[in-house]
Amino acid sequence: MSLDFTPPPDSVRWRKYAGRDVIPLWVADMDFPAPPAVVGALQARIACGLYGYGEPWPSLVEAVIEHCQREYGWRIEAEWLVWLPGLVPGLHAACHAVGMAGDGVFTATPVYPPFLSAPLKARRRLMTLPLVRSEAGWGWDFAAADAIMRSSRLFLLCHPHNPVGRAWRSDELWQLAALAEKHDLVVCSDEIHCDLTLTGRHTPFAALAPEIAARTITLMAPSKTFNLAGLGCAWAIIPDAALRHAFEGATHGIVPQPNVLGLVACEAALREGGAWRAQLLDTLRSHAARVEQVVNALPNLSMERVEASFLAWIDCRELGLAHPAAFFEEAGIGLSDGAAFGPGSAYAQYVRINFGTTRTLLDRALERIRKACTA
Ligand SMILES: Cc1ncc(COP(=O)(O)O)c(C=O)c1O
Repeated sequence: MSLDFTPPPDSVRWRKYAGRDVIPLWVADMDFPAPPAVVGALQARIACGLYGYGEPWPSLVEAVIEHCQREYGWRIEAEWLVWLPGLVPGLHAACHAVGMAGDGVFTATPVYPPFLSAPLKARRRLMTLPLVRSEAGWGWDFAAADAIMRSSRLFLLCHPHNPVGRAWRSDELWQLAALAEKHDLVVCSDEIHCDLTLTGRHTPFAALAPEIAARTITLMAPSKTFNLAGLGCAWAIIPDAALRHAFEGATHGIVPQPNVLGLVACEAALREGGAWRAQLLDTLRSHAARVEQVVNALPNLSMERVEASFLAWIDCRELGLAHPAAFFEEAGIGLSDGAAFGPGSAYAQYVRINFGTTRTLLDRALERIRKACTA
């Protein structure tokens, strides 16, 4: 495959189809180099030659606090922060920290696969509820959520939601918050895609009200936004001291500190990555519109508008195939298999496409999809 950039030799996404003419649009990282300010900060840090144990420093913590204030109007305190090498360890820690073996953990499907595996690894009972697709797009069945949350202790919320691409509105968040209050649940809100909201301003679940924040673990990172996933840097925001100590206890001795290079990249990205991010969002809006246009013009595929991230969830049921992901792979497009995003084979006839790539490659992939679906 001829490319106008060179993927790094360690790339998980690119290695999967090495040597094959398959365009890899599966795992969620992008083909865009990080902001120049981040590259510069990393180069300066590497040049110093000392790579001992590290920890976050005051101006980095200040950068996160300022980011939350500037981007979401959310005032957080330094002591609420727990640093992590990634969000997935945070999901696991939340499942271990809340309740006990056998307790229910609620989440809505289709969803990023670790939401399904983390509760089971912590010996919790996984309780799933399908999101519903209507004229208005993907949304919640709040009555069904009410019933299922009654027997849960923890609610894993994906906000914005991977893979359906919804950036939950305040009224939807308030309804979920009211149910969490009613059934006294802890909420772990994974907001990793929040700075890639394409349609408006992000409202953190915990920012709704202090009493909501008191029952919430918010997980965030610069990794998706600035394409830094391999650098291992993320944080949890946990205002309630007892919940924070339980969460920290669940990570202790198992989850390492973030990588020092990740911390350096994080501060540079938050402080100096604004213009780069604005440009990225323009590109992603244009790519999302293109994917939607091509997909919805085909008689056997459909999707809803993407409100956040660089991922789109495609309904392939009309193709009438048992395994659309394999069909597309055969046609030269490597997509995420929908089967991984829910229990059993509920979503086996869906695929997820990553459009965080160059326009040339995206157009080539969309043309392959179009040809495969009209052949
Ligand atoms: C919703 C969500 N949470 C977490 C992650 C991964 O987080 P990390 O790489 O920080 O563990 C992803 C990656 O795609 C994701 O989409």
